[in-house]
Amino acid sequence: MATHQEISGMSDAELLQRMVSSHPERYGETFWEFFTAQVQTRLPSHPVVMDLGCGPGLFLRDIAARYSPAALYGYDITPAMIDHARQGTYNGVTPTLAVHNLLAAPLPVAAGTVHLVTMTAVLHVLDDPLAVLADIRRVLAPGGIFFLNDWIRTPLQTYLASRTDRTATPDADRLRWFRLFPAHNKYTIEDWQWLLTAGGFLVQCSTQLRPHFQVFVTTPFVGT
Ligand SMILES: C[S@@+](CC[C@H](N)C(=O)[O-])C[C@H]1O[C@@H](n2cnc3c(N)ncnc32)[C@H](O)[C@@H]1O
Repeated sequence: MATHQEISGMSDAELLQRMVSSHPERYGETFWEFFTAQVQTRLPSHPVVMDLGCGPGLFLRDIAARYSPAALYGYDITPAMIDHARQGTYNGVTPTLAVHNLLAAPLPVAAGTVHLVTMTAVLHVLDDPLAVLADIRRVLAPGGIFFLNDWIRTPLQTYLASRTDRTATPDADRLRWFRLFPAHNKYTIEDWQWLLTAGGFLVQCSTQLRPHFQVFVTTPFVGT
């Protein structure tokens, strides 16, 4: 298993900075309108929320500001991400934030205790997504939601055109995107739908809110 940093050659600090600086564009009003309509309406008024591969914790911060969660959990393999997340504020909630490799151990919470599990731009990089999906099913409470937001396959030309960093190091930037292309372009929308179904999830709603990414609102199949 390789992380985004190992694939791209970016340092932890560079990936962290990229996640922080791109956050407002990635989570704009279109995103939150969709999220409120398709996810929040399916949740209890004070949900327990868990973000896997939470990066710098900004998504959990936004959830805390918008939806009054009862508890927040964030797990990430990169210590620099968790260190940054620990410096955040969460609208009066004290989140549980921990370094955790999703492929190495089960999530450190009891079965059936989480109302919403979210995962953005992480599952595509994991060698065995089905094992991770099985553990997500384990931790979800009855009626719980798994919200997946991840890369979908795009032609190389379109991908590279959208990745123009316009920094002082264009050669290094180009190399980074060529390295990441196979990981970001691993799955089609149909592949994701198949994976989610094979992992025991029913896709309730799915759409493309921004180029290269598809969101899936899913619930575990009952009785499986
Ligand atoms: C592209 S970043 C996305 C971060 C965050 N979800 C966001 O959208 O801002 C991918 C994150 O996945 C984490 N990650 C990669 N492999 C992981 C693993 N096996 N277990 C836990 N986290 C992992 C990385 O450390 C990184 O923070």
